[in-house]
Amino acid sequence: MAMRPTRHDLPAEARATLVSILNERLADAVVLATHAKQAHWNVRGPSFIALHELFDDVAAKAHGHADLIAERAAALGGVALGDARSAAARTVLADYPADIVSGNGHVEALAGALGAFAKGVRGSIAKAGELGDEASADVLTEIVRETDQLLWFVEAHLHADR
Ligand SMILES: [Fe+2]
Repeated sequence: MAMRPTRHDLPAEARATLVSILNERLADAVVLATHAKQAHWNVRGPSFIALHELFDDVAAKAHGHADLIAERAAALGGVALGDARSAAARTVLADYPADIVSGNGHVEALAGALGAFAKGVRGSIAKAGELGDEASADVLTEIVRETDQLLWFVEAHLHADR
């Protein structure tokens, strides 16, 4: 994908690599947001309202993360690839199962997606640092910190009382 002319001082080659890394994470964030909405819409069971609201919060935060990542790619002179079809084709996230109903089932599926997204972001922080882009590393660090917290909130529902 061609880069746009910019006065950004990082070397063009490094910026192109950074944009392709950011687009990988953008694909995951876009798909994660749709997975959280899928859970929000379809969850049933005794914890309905807590999970319904938590899953909507995950969707909103993932959507915000997609925005941060895409706009960082644009700021580097790149083209953000964040449409649904492109994101679905490139994401590392597993498909969201269509037949889940129970709260636990959705919690397990969304926890898996959050964990996979966080793992990708964490790996990209180090790569951004190696490429001399502390600002992208900072954006991604903020995102992974918030994603780790969301994973905690979601996984907390798996705790069995005894
Ligand atoms: Fe809703």
